[in-house]
Amino acid sequence: MAADFKAPRGTFDVLPDAAAGYARFEHAARSTLERAGFGRIETPPFEETELFTRGVGGSTDIVRKEMFTFEDKGGRSLTLRPEGTAAICRAYVEHGMHKLAQPVKLWHLGPYFRHERPQAGRYREFNQLGAEVIGTDSPLADAELIVLLADLLGELGVPELSLRVGSLGSLDTRREYLDELRLFLREHEGELSNDVVERIDANPLRAFDSADEGTRRVMTDAPQLIDRLEPADDEHFSAVREALDAAGVGYELDGALVRGLDYYTRTIFEFHCGRLGAQSQVGGGGRYDGLVEQLGGPATAGVGFAVGAERVLLALDLEPPGPSTDVFVALGEGAEPQRALALLRELRRAGRSAETDLAGRALRGQLKHADRIGARHALILEADGRAQLRDMQSGEQREIEANRVLEEL
Ligand code: HAM
Repeated sequence: MAADFKAPRGTFDVLPDAAAGYARFEHAARSTLERAGFGRIETPPFEETELFTRGVGGSTDIVRKEMFTFEDKGGRSLTLRPEGTAAICRAYVEHGMHKLAQPVKLWHLGPYFRHERPQAGRYREFNQLGAEVIGTDSPLADAELIVLLADLLGELGVPELSLRVGSLGSLDTRREYLDELRLFLREHEGELSNDVVERIDANPLRAFDSADEGTRRVMTDAPQLIDRLEPADDEHFSAVREALDAAGVGYELDGALVRGLDYYTRTIFEFHCGRLGAQSQVGGGGRYDGLVEQLGGPATAGVGFAVGAERVLLALDLEPPGPSTDVFVALGEGAEPQRALALLRELRRAGRSAETDLAGRALRGQLKHADRIGARHALILEADGRAQLRDMQSGEQREIEANRVLEEL
């Protein structure tokens, strides 16, 4: 039968088997971050569009091509959030969090939306876990976030991980460097892809990220921001690396690392998984010392990361979960159906998972169903409070008193 409707392109349904993986991801994230003193924050799934054009940056792919933007009935422009950091900084300012003890450490988990070309590991709706430390420019905060993300991915068992770390310096250093880079790109215009040429003025850094072969060849000789850092930025970056060394977290220093959001200053980083093909970035982040101010708040430093839940689950290649029903309560000869519900309640209150037949099957059909759903035991109710307890794996069966099932299990 052909379905009349399908989930929109690039989105997907999370079916019960996959939900178990998400639950594991959330559990690991919560325990890692709450042990480190992070509190959970959730912001709405959509915001005023200008929050992202101003926060993420008008020259980024995200703002130029990937936002789901719509008008509400009052003619206001709203956008399904493509990322979390701008919204969390908005909330930091809106709720006067600069008056709290600094830094404020927040984590969040939820759906994000980008109108990208869907492929394995790249969707139009995806889930991000993020962590933000707002109100400090200490390099220790950058290093701590990287260590936390390394620990989380390690605890989840993500294989073939690598970490790239770079620095974009402060906004002033970057302005000077960008002029130098523009000049370099203009000299090589003929060898660059159209997309890169079009953005020489608006966003020349993206040339480092291009998949185009000609552009990549040119970029191997391009001047790198990492060689132009001011002494203060250089010291900050060294301190981050020393802290990573001391924590025993290995990384590759990547002078050509760039990120797809404009708010970054100083440290940036990405974790990649060798198991994942083209969309190998499982998580990434960096420092955004100008963002809160840019959104109308007081000058406030911040740093954070986000990790894609779907990419982690893909990397883990999770097996479907094992049997989840402890006891299937079946109705045998002479059993009273009302007894089944009372027993289910008793079993569930005692922490056991329990189900019964809801389709009016004969006993044989009920046992077949119990087998299909992976039940460990079947409790076959009979007349006069008697019952049979059946081990579904071995097929062994013994008579018990139905009201002693908890003791017998
Ligand atoms: P981002 O690198 O754009 O950073 O996204 C973070 C993670 O989200 C990526 O590493 C990837 O795992 C996942 N992701 C991104 N786009 C998709 C997609 N279309 N489908 C599936 N997964 C995707 C940020 O969003 C920043 N807000 C991170 C940050 C927090 N920086 C500072 N604080």
